[in-house]
Amino acid sequence: MSGSSLRVLLSNEQIQARIAEIGLKIGADYPSGDLHMVCILKGACIFLSDLARATPRDICIDFMGISSYGKGKSSSGEVKLTKDLDHSVEGADVLIVEDIVDTGITLNYLIHVIQQRKPRSVRIAALLDKPTRRIRPVDVAYTGFQIPDEFVVGYGLDFAEKYRNLRDVCVLEGT
Ligand code: IMP
Ligand code: MG
Repeated sequence: MSGSSLRVLLSNEQIQARIAEIGLKIGADYPSGDLHMVCILKGACIFLSDLARATPRDICIDFMGISSYGKGKSSSGEVKLTKDLDHSVEGADVLIVEDIVDTGITLNYLIHVIQQRKPRSVRIAALLDKPTRRIRPVDVAYTGFQIPDEFVVGYGLDFAEKYRNLRDVCVLEGT
């Protein structure tokens, strides 16, 4: 991929500071009960691992696989469940942990899927939000950062499966 460059948008230090705040808020908002953090693979795996450790209470970690993007930068508009939960969420508080809310198509679909499983509550934590791109309404309870309409990679987010291991969130320019 010659000609592309990376510009740091959010440093790892900024990300960690924000996650520490969100973790404490989640701890305060859920003083008791069975809390399931559902990580949406693969983009949210790094966020989940830091958010889980920033949350000072018992949690259950589970994973769901969703694919809505092909190898390019724009959504196919089609959501596919590629991996289901391992544990029942009936009667539990569910926190969906996602990397980024873009059009909202993925989370709008997912929240309906989870609601059918009869949880006590469902909320969303998303590291990044591009509000200007929204097509479907999504209520995000915990947002890390609102960002402009630019394609970002790093800290779990990819372009064609690359860049997930960058420590910072960077804008991918020139592709
Ligand atoms: P939505 O369904 O359009 O809200 O898209 C959500 C999914 O698209 C996210 O979980 C990401 O996997 C992917 N996505 C959206 N914007 C970006 C981006 O800027 N960089 C990398 N992936 C993105
Ligand atoms: Mg994703």
